[in-house]
Amino acid sequence: MSKKLWGGRFTKSTNKNVEEFTSSIDVDKKLYKKDIDASIAHVKMLKKQKIIKSSDAAKIIKALSQIELQIDKGSFLYDESLEDIHMNIENSLIKKIGNIGKKIHTARSRNDQVITDLRLYTKDNIKLLNGSLKNLIKALLKISQKNIKVIIPFYTHLQKAQPILASHFLNSYIEMFLRDMSRLKHTYEIADVSPLGSCAGAGTSFNIDRKLTAKLLGFKEISRNSLDSVSDRDFVADTIYSCSMLMMHFSRFCEDLIIWNSSEFGFIKIGDSFTTGSSIMPQKKNPDILELIRGKCSSVYGNLNNILVNLKGLPSSYNRDLQEDKEPLFSAFKTTMECTSIFTETIKSIAFDANKIKSSIDSGFMTATDIADYLVKKGIPFRDAHKITGKIVLYCEKNNQILSDLKIEEFKKFSKKIEIDIFNFITNEYSIESKKSFGGTSTVMVKKSITKYKKIIDKL
Ligand code: ARG
Repeated sequence: MSKKLWGGRFTKSTNKNVEEFTSSIDVDKKLYKKDIDASIAHVKMLKKQKIIKSSDAAKIIKALSQIELQIDKGSFLYDESLEDIHMNIENSLIKKIGNIGKKIHTARSRNDQVITDLRLYTKDNIKLLNGSLKNLIKALLKISQKNIKVIIPFYTHLQKAQPILASHFLNSYIEMFLRDMSRLKHTYEIADVSPLGSCAGAGTSFNIDRKLTAKLLGFKEISRNSLDSVSDRDFVADTIYSCSMLMMHFSRFCEDLIIWNSSEFGFIKIGDSFTTGSSIMPQKKNPDILELIRGKCSSVYGNLNNILVNLKGLPSSYNRDLQEDKEPLFSAFKTTMECTSIFTETIKSIAFDANKIKSSIDSGFMTATDIADYLVKKGIPFRDAHKITGKIVLYCEKNNQILSDLKIEEFKKFSKKIEIDIFNFITNEYSIESKKSFGGTSTVMVKKSITKYKKIIDKL
């Protein structure tokens, strides 16, 4: 005869290896607080609906609170043979208060219980992650404001393109992180639906009040179809996808900073406390944190792949495969959260090296487009202006000169329309300040964006 809580129809006890194989307690013990919260809400509802007696409900709630305290303190003894956190808590409840404890699973199944817990856990963690992202954006805004005068090149194909404000570059990542925040907010809404009361998948014959448990647990709404509710893990995939997108943004940001930190570029210096040394080469100061964040992005992508493959082709309703949903979700949250906070600290330690940048921005013909625009404004069609400017660049390259080295007579050889005022147009400062189009890199525009971000972030 099986001793399991579900053992009634079994004549033999479970094989030891099977117990070990099917157990998920090492992973899902993380959900204990949510499991207890959900059980308390469930019991309150059973009492209100007169499905269990008031005095029984009080005893169950008291015992559940004691169990929570025990787990908090680390004195709770988990039993692997009890499979998961739900069974461990229920078993302990029954041990504490006997037969009354056995009433808790009325009008409930582990199928709706586990997914209620996981939704609650996900909601909490999305809030935490969004809070950290808000801190990161605030830190970036400060750096952006502080460096409003720093001019850097931006690159396309890793070739110098045009001069921009460093703040414009930083703001581009603020945009990405704001998108991450709204993606996470949307994911939160998707998770904010109570499945409790769906039971095994068909609902229940008891007169339960699903709206009440949802309200007690802080869910915005209740799920509409019990069968879908017990196997819906879309919110898990959505959450990991949101984390993946954020990690992808981090990995790109890290890559930019790693390149800029190289001695060949030298645009930035990372604070000593946020770099590491080499065990053999004494001169090294490596951007290991940034490289690790870039590397950890792949583990979150792995988590996303894991859940998507788990869900593919799964038959309707609950299947035990779904027990495997927790590891990728927990792992994605852990990695993304850690990366967000260490990245925020690291970015605060970064300083731009104006001298190094200066030596770089004067080469590379970054204001060539401004010459083409100059010619267009003097009546030359853009394609022709582009060709003329290309020839000027070629001439400079052959003579090992930069644009500002040319004499006006030399310029005039390429087009009679070029006048002495060309020299104003080819400065980096002019180039930047002329980009007044909405979303462009001029100081006015960048300052406007900073003000806008501050307003947005205050409301988040
Ligand atoms: N530990 C299980 C999980 O995480 C709980 C649900 C078990 N349900 C079942 N029908 N065996 O999915």
